Amino acid sequence: MRIAPLVERPDLADQVAAWGFAEWGHLNPGETLARRVIRIQGKMNLDRVPVAFVALDEAGGIVGTASLIFDDLEGDPRNPWLASVYVPPEHRKKGIASALVRAVEDTARRLGYSRLYLFTSTVPDLYAGLGWRPLERRDYRGENIQVMDRTL
Ligand SMILES: CC(C)(COP(=O)(O)OP(=O)(O)OC[C@H]1O[C@@H](n2cnc3c(N)ncnc32)[C@H](O)[C@@H]1OP(=O)(O)O)[C@@H](O)C(=O)NCCC(=O)NCCS
Repeated sequence: MRIAPLVERPDLADQVAAWGFAEWGHLNPGETLARRVIRIQGKMNLDRVPVAFVALDEAGGIVGTASLIFDDLEGDPRNPWLASVYVPPEHRKKGIASALVRAVEDTARRLGYSRLYLFTSTVPDLYAGLGWRPLERRDYRGENIQVMDRTL
């Protein structure tokens, strides 16, 4: 397994968008799959935020995704954010999400950022295990979320 920037594999943008739409579409009222594809295509960068990543198996198949973005939490001035970490059920518990998180951290550091943020309603323990610090809890668009940060 290796992590690659999505710009290296633009053919995978539709799959990344489909996963994100199924998992988080409800958090963005008015979003459609077509709009999400366009948004993902805007993350095909290497040297500026936003950057989308894909995890690839030996055959080049996609087994996960994560992104480095601005303005994930509407109205919050902190930046940048680790977002959209997703691994399909059949590939979970093999360290793929951890590798994606490390790739996003490394890229944020390379681009000159000294701190990175995320929010999660589902897996704060996963990120705590990777060295992330819990900040505040709050309600956001109908979910109780944990905001976390990491010094790079
Ligand atoms: C959460 C998710 C990304 C984890 O992917 P993964 O590739 O299975 O994660 P890893 O194998 O890297 O796991 C890293 C650590 O987190 C733990 N972990 C993974 N999923 C977990 C879960 N659902 N609950 C609690 N701990 C979890 C693992 O046990 C592992 O700990 P260990 O190193 O002590 O064994 C994946 O289950 C997923 O895509 N879920 C749906 C989308 C989602 O919730 N994304 C997170 C949004 S913030």
